[in-house]
Amino acid sequence: MKIAIIGLGFVGLSFAAVLGSKGYSVLGIDSDKKKISKIGSGKSLFYEPKLDETLKSALKKSLKVSSDIDLAVRQCDMVFVTVGTPESKEGYIDLTMMKQVVKEIGISLSKTNNKPVIVIKSTVVPRTTQDVVKPILEKNSRKKVGIGFGIAMNPEFLREGTAIYDTLNPHIVVIGSDDVVSANRVKKFYDELYKRKTQIIITNYQTAELIKYANNSFLATKISFINQIANICQSMPGTNIDDVAEVIGLDPRIGSLFLKAGPGYGGSCFPKDMKTMIAFSKKVGTDPVLLEAVQQTNTLQVNKIISLMKNMIGKFDGKKITILGLSFKEDSDDIRESVSIKLIRLLLRENAAITVHDPKAIENTKTIFKAKIRYSDSIRDALKDSQCAIIMTPWKQYKNLPNNDFQKMKRKFVIDTRRILKHENLAIKYNALGIG
Ligand code: UGA
Repeated sequence: MKIAIIGLGFVGLSFAAVLGSKGYSVLGIDSDKKKISKIGSGKSLFYEPKLDETLKSALKKSLKVSSDIDLAVRQCDMVFVTVGTPESKEGYIDLTMMKQVVKEIGISLSKTNNKPVIVIKSTVVPRTTQDVVKPILEKNSRKKVGIGFGIAMNPEFLREGTAIYDTLNPHIVVIGSDDVVSANRVKKFYDELYKRKTQIIITNYQTAELIKYANNSFLATKISFINQIANICQSMPGTNIDDVAEVIGLDPRIGSLFLKAGPGYGGSCFPKDMKTMIAFSKKVGTDPVLLEAVQQTNTLQVNKIISLMKNMIGKFDGKKITILGLSFKEDSDDIRESVSIKLIRLLLRENAAITVHDPKAIENTKTIFKAKIRYSDSIRDALKDSQCAIIMTPWKQYKNLPNNDFQKMKRKFVIDTRRILKHENLAIKYNALGIG
């Protein structure tokens, strides 16, 4: 079986690397020639644990990369589309890349007798496959779905930071298709890949599309819920959000995952998907009161950090403040919608002198703040002369910081938004989100 993956961003590249490392004949396609050349030399464009090794092994075995969509459509049994669907100016999703790629696939289909299944893996709002993808493919190929080619919708659930593990061990595979033959071809591929150990759900296009948004919205809801309870804990001496989360998580109806209170969710998915889901909900005539509250709770969470800081050090004017952790989550260099970035912007407005540290995300952060803040490779240097340090990202490097690292702080104030620092024997004044 020959597989093509069009769009070598986070999802596409992880998928291509995993399939290639397992010996599948894979053609990774991207229009960006620079990207193709870097990937072809075994290097990804972002930091993701295990990705570079997996990619190198895939390239040695059976992964080829190219910019030629024609080749993919002519040769492959399945063509996965994993292009980005970023936020549009109107707060909806921007389908420009999707439409362009699908048009090119359609034109390529018109020139071949091959009948691949076109599998949409990008996150798209319900009815996009039916109302946008299908007509473009049929028009440009001058063929009918189910006869000249197949279409399936197959949402992705991998997380940044654990992309390779998640691709190898998904909790579920969802296949949306209106034609049984295509659905079964995709199912057969996944059954083989996961040796029939992963549950596969077959449904229609729009349900598959909605499942993806419902999944992300529910996870975002869990986070905002626990953050709100954490804020209640904050005002109640003697309570700790992690004790509460641990016990409610034991109720199987609630479940223990995604109950880690913190500075609010960030990243390229939850904030964008929540916005889109809210807009979509309004479009179909449903008032998204709950989703809006989840979003608002998330937006307001950064203010909790600011007020904790003000309680400790007063006005920020000219004071040196250290931010530990810039990426939106650990094991990633991604700073998209990261609350750290939002916090830095707010602090700069109040004239704080900011120094930042992050094991992987410094270079990305430089592109935003340039010389407006200081960057440090060493945690100890970042803390020197600081009046307050804020742990924003739960990198393992911040868990066991020794006393020495804090020695040269001007005032030894530490705010831990993730409650990861082992602080009991440290000579610091420790404050944490969610501990009263
Ligand atoms: C999320 C989903 O978890 C994936 O299933 C989905 O495929 C992906 O979006 C997507 O739509 O592409 P991701 O954004 O990579 O994955 O990372 P998460 O682990 O979900 O974390 C998102 C944010 O929530 C991070 O800022 C994280 O720190 C925060 N978070 C997560 C919490 O504050 N508390 C938690 O308990 C969990």
